[in-house]
Order: sequence, then C-alpha cells, then structure tokens
Amino acid sequence: MTAQVIDGKAFAATVRGKVADHVAKLKDEHGITPGLAVVLVGEDPASQVYVRSKGKQTVEVGMNSYEHKLPADTDEATLLALIEQLNNDPEVHGILVQLPLPKHLDEDLVINSITPSKDVDGFHISNVGLLGTGQKSMVPCTPLGCLMMLRDYHGSLSGMNAVVIGRSNIVGKPMAQLLLNDSCTVTIAHSRTKDLPEVVRRADIVVAAVGRPEMVPGEWIKEGATVIDVGINRIEKPEGGTRLVGDVDYASCVKVAGAITPVPGGVGPMTIACLLANTVTACCRANGLTEPQGLTA
Ligand code: GUN
Repeated sequence: MTAQVIDGKAFAATVRGKVADHVAKLKDEHGITPGLAVVLVGEDPASQVYVRSKGKQTVEVGMNSYEHKLPADTDEATLLALIEQLNNDPEVHGILVQLPLPKHLDEDLVINSITPSKDVDGFHISNVGLLGTGQKSMVPCTPLGCLMMLRDYHGSLSGMNAVVIGRSNIVGKPMAQLLLNDSCTVTIAHSRTKDLPEVVRRADIVVAAVGRPEMVPGEWIKEGATVIDVGINRIEKPEGGTRLVGDVDYASCVKVAGAITPVPGGVGPMTIACLLANTVTACCRANGLTEPQGLTA
C-alpha cells in the first residue's frame, strides 16, 4: 500500500480562502475589520520568520495586522502593560505573544494576562479548561489544523484508536483533548512510555509531535493507519547543506500508512491558516455575529 498524501498546503489555502470570504462579509455588512496583534520579544531568528509570515498572511486575507516588537531585555511590567492595552483595544480581536519568551519572563503569567476571548493561541488556562470540558473555547492552532485534516479525510473519527506522541501544552495535550471530544479512544505517549512501538501499532490515527527527527519508523505503523506529522526538524544532509524532516520517517511510513502528511507541506501551513481562522472567530464572537462554519472545533 502507498499512502494517500494529505496536502496541507492546498488545505491551508482553502482555509485562508474561507477566512478571506468571511472577512469581506464582515467589512461589507457590518463595517468591521478583524485585527490580530502579534507581540515578539527579542530577536530569535526562527520567531522573527514566523511573525513576519503571520503578519503577511493576516494582511493577505484582508485583516488588520498590528506588530509589536520589544527588545530582549523588556521587563515583565512593560510587557504586561502592552497586553493590557491590547486587551482594551476594540480594534484588536486576537492577541498572540510569540513563544518562547526570554528566560527572565514568566510565560504562564504573560499568557494568562491575555483576555481569554482574544487568546487566539488557545493557551490561556480558561481556554484550556473550556476545551477540556467540551465548551466553546479558542482552540490551539496546530492541533486544530490536524483535526481539520483528519475530519476532512475520515468524516467521523468516532471510535477510532488515536495515539498522540508528545505531551506538550501547545500540541500534544490539546490534540488529545480534541480527538477525545470527537469520540476517539486516545492514548498520549511520551518519552517514558513503555513499549512505544507496540502502543503505536494499535493506532488508527498517529499524531507525532515530539520534535525528534524521523523517530517513528514504518514498522511501528498499522497497515492503513493515518499518520499526522507535526515535527519540523532541520537536519544535515550527508552531502552537505540541510533539509527539513518530520518526526516520522516518511520514506518507510508512506509504504504502510493509508494517509500521511508530508514535511514540509503538511501540518506546517495549517498552523497560520488556523490562527487567521481563530481571529475571525474571535471577532465574530466579540460582536455577537455568526461565526464561520467549519473553521473551529
Ligand atoms: N511558538 C511556537 N509555536 C507557537 C505557537 O503556536 N504560538 C505561539 N504564540 N508561539 C509559538
């Protein structure tokens, strides 16, 4: 069997198109333009690339983008004051503080200072609690993108065995929660899991989010399973230079899986598309308007 390749790049373009349509409708019918504020503290090169990309795509779908770049030595009070200003700004419907923050800043404190309804990352403890109890919340972007692709491919996920490898707050835990809310039987595996190959072999759905290049080989995958690869790892090529690989060994997994996301071009493009979707959703909720269908959990 050769797996069907799930094209995240094309899927993300479709999501952005739906977002752009809804943004146009909000402008035409209500005179409202959704706005996303992104806060970057410091000069981490990877974060700078992400933030630039977020700003560009926000503008491309017709929304307002507000970028706040602060020096690496910004103190906590200054950052919290900026967040408070954004919380109170009616033009700002979504707020994202790029992680990781410099070590002297308390990430939990900063994230929890964002008004939950503007927390388009879905990292605030209120949103985590709402998601965990099956209530309407802001849903973390990467897991939301994975869920959209899984629902599109399978229709219903009810009763499927899902194994999430990785237990981060950003991906693993919310992913497991979303799969549980869609009635999967969910296992969260991690670095201390005993007999990981055996656990993964039971899965109809495998979501790999550990940040270890190509750690899941094809021999762990059940014939016909769906493999979602969240990893983005840059590795050295034997002939020199570098290339991007996921957390699964694509070459061997593609031969046994029923469907698989590639790296690059799988989950990656969906993350920012879902951020834009969350911003429109937040804007609609803030204004008591109908939110777009199919763009949240
Ligand atoms: N850094 C890496 N991924 C993310 C993300 O999804 N949101 C934020 N805010 N920072 C990140």
